[in-house]
Amino acid sequence: MGREFASVGVVGLGTMGAGIVEVFARNGIAVLAVEINEAALQRGRDNLRGSVDRAVRKGKLSEADRDALLERVTFAVGLPSLHAADLVIEAVPEQLELKQRLFADLDGVCKADAILATNTSSLSVTEISVATGRPDRVIGMHFFNPAPVMKLVEVVRTVVTADDVVTDIEGLCARLGKVDVTIGDRAGFIANALLFGYLNQAVSLLEARYASREDIDAAMKLGCGLPMGPLALLDLIGLDTAYEILDTMYRRGGRDRRHAPVPLIKQMVTAGLLGRKSGRGFYAYEKPGSPVVVDGAAATATESEARTIAKVGVVGSGTMATGIIEVFARAGLEVVAVTRGAEQSGRTGEALKTSLDEAVVRGTLDEAARDAALGRVTWSATIEHLADVDLVVEAVVEDLSVKKALFAALDETCKPGVVLATTTSSLPVIELAVATRRPADVVGLHFFNPAPAVGLVEVVRTIRTSDATIATATAVARAVAKHPVVCADRSGFVVNALLFPYLNDAVKMVEASYSTADDIDAAMKLGCGYPMGPFELLDVVGLDVALAMQRKLYLELREPGFAPAPLLEQLVTAGYLGRRVGRGFRDHPER
Ligand SMILES: NC(=O)c1ccc[n+]([C@@H]2O[C@H](COP(=O)([O-])OP(=O)(O)OC[C@H]3O[C@@H](n4cnc5c(N)ncnc54)[C@H](O)[C@@H]3O)[C@@H](O)[C@H]2O)c1
Repeated sequence: MGREFASVGVVGLGTMGAGIVEVFARNGIAVLAVEINEAALQRGRDNLRGSVDRAVRKGKLSEADRDALLERVTFAVGLPSLHAADLVIEAVPEQLELKQRLFADLDGVCKADAILATNTSSLSVTEISVATGRPDRVIGMHFFNPAPVMKLVEVVRTVVTADDVVTDIEGLCARLGKVDVTIGDRAGFIANALLFGYLNQAVSLLEARYASREDIDAAMKLGCGLPMGPLALLDLIGLDTAYEILDTMYRRGGRDRRHAPVPLIKQMVTAGLLGRKSGRGFYAYEKPGSPVVVDGAAATATESEARTIAKVGVVGSGTMATGIIEVFARAGLEVVAVTRGAEQSGRTGEALKTSLDEAVVRGTLDEAARDAALGRVTWSATIEHLADVDLVVEAVVEDLSVKKALFAALDETCKPGVVLATTTSSLPVIELAVATRRPADVVGLHFFNPAPAVGLVEVVRTIRTSDATIATATAVARAVAKHPVVCADRSGFVVNALLFPYLNDAVKMVEASYSTADDIDAAMKLGCGYPMGPFELLDVVGLDVALAMQRKLYLELREPGFAPAPLLEQLVTAGYLGRRVGRGFRDHPER
């Protein structure tokens, strides 16, 4: 029989503390909610009230349950009221000295068998614990934002945490309806260690004007299915908190430069732009604490320059080419599909028909529309038939010399003013542009697999691409119901540059025996709302594909932290490439 927690204290009622109070009170546990002064206490009360009122408005909580929930919470300034609590969780700002002082004070106030927990995201739980006379009763309970919604709690045990304390806290998590992963005391634990390098890198892309804030966020939402883009997430976390977490992770986590906070973050914190809680961060909000963005994207001014596209050429016969042909044909454009010969055309045509038939079965397309789409596609084995198209998208093999030769040939064949696009995921677009005498007309149009399903297209601008070409490429992406994001011509564009280092870091975490693939997958899904964990995704993408991308990023940026994980290299060498061969990080006998 685990320990009963009849009364729980929460210290610090900011972004996290107020949410943690709500979690306990919702589950029938009496909570003492403590702040540093009356003004902060009132803000904490408002935070809690705002959240439960929203839940009532959304129909997730009845008024009676809300009132009962609020009844369970007692608000107080200062620690003395915590003397009888069975457990105290602190959620004060992410500063070691502050937390150590607080724990020393709690040690003096709380009864001898009370458990003291910290919600720190990155500080050493061990260092916090030794500020007390009971380090064996100190533990990390790391909730995720927003605490009432996210299912994960990382339970952090130090080398001195007593076994019964760990067991009791695990039992409590279950009672709260949470899923826990129990881990050792390492900077950033699981989720933040994998998340914050990515968030920081997203800010550096913005700072370098590599892509706009909306485009960076849209890329990660649409390209990876994440619930929020990285900049919107930083606004939710709070930029001051994010700064402290990064700074601590940099110092504690081996001085990985990827955790050195990007200067823009510090500037924003200094300027009081803390994110949602202050009403302004990367985005501006209706009022402090509100999730409603009031400074949405301005329409792109250059769209008026877009050229008309009625007929497109698609070169290639693989998965991407087939998907792109389908996207254009379904959107009502005439398509000339060029493959290397009749056999390839036949196979690609069959694959296209199968995909369209599946859409009919799913009910997303009717038979007449399917037949019309098929009727819009003509097949050819020579690029001479691309003489009169308005746009060419090439999706041939990912080999620079093959693509360069193709672009040189397109330059000879196509009429002036045609937009020449490549769907390469890893080669420099500028190499293809300079293989032609019209580099201003060359652009990247990076579709994602499966092209008919993924709503994102990265529009890659080289240093030679004209505004009119960008305008045309973005307009055509919209015309085929894709969301275009414009980015510069660097390895990985937006999505892959932000995604693969995170996957590589997850592999390094397993390699270091800090956690398991199962716990890491669970942490990212339940703590951050990711649709798949990193190891599930690696098996789908292919470990060889991930390794190749990571090598490219490492070679281009020479960032030591981007070096491919040796374990990833070994698995690829061993032929464990993921789902498509039946084995990657996991077995896939069903293949
Ligand atoms: N923001 C997130 O997304 C997130 C997620 C998980 C964990 N955390 C962690 O939770 C902790 C709190 O972060 P936050 O984002 O909620 O910060 P916050 O700035 O929103 O809130 C901190 C609160 O602590 C109060 N406080 C300061 N000193 C105090 C004291 N001595 N006694 C009582 N109250 C005091 C402040 O008045 C403020 O209300 C940090 O350790 C952070 O790393 C944050």
